[in-house]
Amino acid sequence: MNVTEAVTSRRSIRQFLDKPVDKSILERVLETAQRAPSGGNTQPWNAVVVGGDALKDITAKIKAKAATAPMGENTEYAIYPRELDGRYEEQRRAVGKDMFQAVGLERGDKAGRIAQMAKNWDSFGAPVQLFTYTKKYMGPPQWSDMGMWLQTVMLLLREAGLDSCPQEIWAMYGTYMRELLGIDDDHIFFCGMAIGYRDPDAAINNFDVPRVPIRDAIEFRGF
Ligand SMILES: Cc1cc2nc3c(=O)[nH]c(=O)nc-3n(C[C@H](O)[C@H](O)[C@H](O)COP(=O)(O)O)c2cc1C
Repeated sequence: MNVTEAVTSRRSIRQFLDKPVDKSILERVLETAQRAPSGGNTQPWNAVVVGGDALKDITAKIKAKAATAPMGENTEYAIYPRELDGRYEEQRRAVGKDMFQAVGLERGDKAGRIAQMAKNWDSFGAPVQLFTYTKKYMGPPQWSDMGMWLQTVMLLLREAGLDSCPQEIWAMYGTYMRELLGIDDDHIFFCGMAIGYRDPDAAINNFDVPRVPIRDAIEFRGF
């Protein structure tokens, strides 16, 4: 698989097969992903990889928490800016609409949508979670470094035949997640990432997620 194939075959998978993932593959992927760049080589990413009974335990606890605090609790960063507007807001709405439509959920089916969203807590059936965090004092440049590392991980997972879904939904309970994972107070929880093998036939893994043409986002000068 070349880089283009890894980039274009990666998509957020929301239905995984019931198939275990070898720890040795994850170790190899994460070892290689350490080559991701970061400003000043600070390498600000940290993570806990969770599977087996440990993941079952977290899954049960977060579901219980989500039942008592459905709108989130002690969210430590704004998952989306309040000011999101224009094409950014349109794109955010569109992917939600298309996703629900792919699984046959009508606009008015609030219960169905909530049930679909709740699948996040089951890691969409994936056997592994990568929970990421960094120091609280890290700023936008280091957060962008985290993103570069995460994408590096996701592409290497593709090369290994694996799939992923980054999940910032877990940050709705950021403080609680740190508590469950034993992460100190001077750190901030970023996101989870479900890892496993995709169900290739699931409609939710096959709807189109468009991107804006580059002319809407990028400008060439001096060419
Ligand atoms: C940092 C990050 C967090 C995300 N969190 C979630 C999430 O909590 N749940 C989810 O279903 N998708 C989540 N996504 C997936 C995005 O919706 C997805 O990347 C976007 O719609 C583009 O689609 P694609 O990844 O399939 O190309 C997240 C993506 C990123 C990069």
